[in-house]
Amino acid sequence: MEKKPAILIVGASRGLGLALVEQFCLRGWQVLATVRTPSSALDALKVRFGSALEEEVADIADEASVRALRQRLEGRTLEMLFINAGIAKSINESAGTAPVQDFLDMMLVNAFSPMRFIEIFDDMVAPDGTIAAMSSELGSITGNEGGWDLYASSKAALNMLMKCYAAARPGDQRAKLVVAPGWIQTEMGGPGASFTVEETIPLVVDMLEKNHGKPGLRFVDRFDRSLPW
Ligand SMILES: NC(=O)c1ccc[n+]([C@@H]2O[C@H](COP(=O)([O-])OP(=O)(O)OC[C@H]3O[C@@H](n4cnc5c(N)ncnc54)[C@H](OP(=O)(O)O)[C@@H]3O)[C@@H](O)[C@H]2O)c1
Repeated sequence: MEKKPAILIVGASRGLGLALVEQFCLRGWQVLATVRTPSSALDALKVRFGSALEEEVADIADEASVRALRQRLEGRTLEMLFINAGIAKSINESAGTAPVQDFLDMMLVNAFSPMRFIEIFDDMVAPDGTIAAMSSELGSITGNEGGWDLYASSKAALNMLMKCYAAARPGDQRAKLVVAPGWIQTEMGGPGASFTVEETIPLVVDMLEKNHGKPGLRFVDRFDRSLPW
């Protein structure tokens, strides 16, 4: 029997990460999914998909937790690594009004920690694999129309760190993607967001599968359109 490609999805307890897990399971991937604390929604997917879905624990803001996961997965090869975890705080505030800790928390979880995770897991991702992180349309400096100032800045920082990571590895043949999924109804996106999880995440996964194995770095939306940085 042909070996299934493996994906590690980081931050899969709920929202977009959970929906990514379901889609990749449906499409025949071996899915390793991380949570910080037990998730009844992920438990339900484990019942549905059996041994095709493996649960792991990781807090991306905690380096020891990430290194412990790396050790537990020693010897495995990942065809795709997808860092989904992210937070949004003080979304209606600016630098003049927000608690500084909220900005620091977002820079840590949304920018620094995904890239640290990617560097720690770099040698586990197949040479023709894919390394992706969930960014946002709001992370585009060129496309900026204001709003969610501090969160947007953390996603712009993630994009920059991914550019630096790619620039430092000119011969690397893996696809590197920072993904803008659209404004989606989740705990973070809120009920007033433009799109549902069901109508967006299958398109995100179509795009990921299409780019899998194509070398180079892209800031890309769910329709496979490149976005301005
Ligand atoms: N929804 C949107 O409209 C939208 C648009 C653009 C981009 N995004 C991005 O898409 C990603 C998912 O967003 P969402 O809407 O699904 O948000 P969500 O419903 O708030 O889910 C966030 C996920 O990130 C996990 N997470 C948070 N901090 C973590 C940490 N330190 N370590 C590990 N996991 C952590 C959460 O786990 P816990 O359950 O343990 O908290 C949860 O699984 C985020 O990166 C977000 O910025 C969302």
